[in-house]
Amino acid sequence: MRYFGIFQQISELKLPFCEENDLYEAFYADFYDKIMEGIFYDLDLYKAQAAVTGRNILELACGSGRLTVPLAEAGYSITGVDLSGDMLNILDGKLRGKSSRIRQRVEVLNSDMRTFRTDKRFNLAILPVTSICLLENNEDVVTMLNNVYEHLCDRGRFVFDIRVFDNPQTAAGQANMMGYTWETGNKKVFVMMQECFYTLEAKAVVNFYGEIAEGDKTARKLGCTIKRLITEEDVEAAVKETRFSIAKTKVIRLSPDETMKFYILEK
Ligand SMILES: C[S@@+](CC[C@H](N)C(=O)[O-])C[C@H]1O[C@@H](n2cnc3c(N)ncnc32)[C@H](O)[C@@H]1O
Repeated sequence: MRYFGIFQQISELKLPFCEENDLYEAFYADFYDKIMEGIFYDLDLYKAQAAVTGRNILELACGSGRLTVPLAEAGYSITGVDLSGDMLNILDGKLRGKSSRIRQRVEVLNSDMRTFRTDKRFNLAILPVTSICLLENNEDVVTMLNNVYEHLCDRGRFVFDIRVFDNPQTAAGQANMMGYTWETGNKKVFVMMQECFYTLEAKAVVNFYGEIAEGDKTARKLGCTIKRLITEEDVEAAVKETRFSIAKTKVIRLSPDETMKFYILEK
């Protein structure tokens, strides 16, 4: 189920100079960072939680630092964990443009959220922007939760969000195609992107196809990411297998068909 529709057809064409990347890798790491610029629906919620718990934050799947940088700028100390060296390189580039005081507040671990280890203990752990969906099954979610639990101080909190659907069946099939174009230096770039919901398998596959034209040369990039459509029942079942308790939940409706539910777990 890696490619669907037009993306599958493009992949079968075996176009010249066509490279495949996962999202968060190489060209698509930069693309992700670009399309997420200025998206901060969750920043105030995480800041409010840190105001309650304390200033040491563990950020799982921190990526290119969409939240890491503003949290460090707001005075929090953050340890970011991410699997993708390419995403962490983008974060590093952003930090290099900041003062040494801000840079010193950030530490990164190129590691898996299920298995990372550090001697530090944290007041607050966060896993933003539904990245819990990148774990394949509830066994992995429980492993991740137990690992986070070990790294929290007493009464520490772990906050993450999931996407909830009013009626999952209406989401089945392919969502609208989105397109992006931009120019950098001599390069003209376009990317088209579409999500396909396989509700019976509780998965969403996002496909990308991009072209980077420079003079008379064109590089092509096919990309894919697969997300689990994790439900509220899945989260509650996973939490029950750990020593966490659910202290609160909060729902934010981003658009008529995009609702985020935040879970605030307590140690
Ligand atoms: C949707 S991005 C989120 C990035 C950032 N937190 C943000 O809010 O924009 C998901 C990130 O999760 C990372 N990731 C995926 N699986 C992971 C895992 N098992 N452990 C750690 N990081 C992971 C990816 O490399 C990617 O940077």
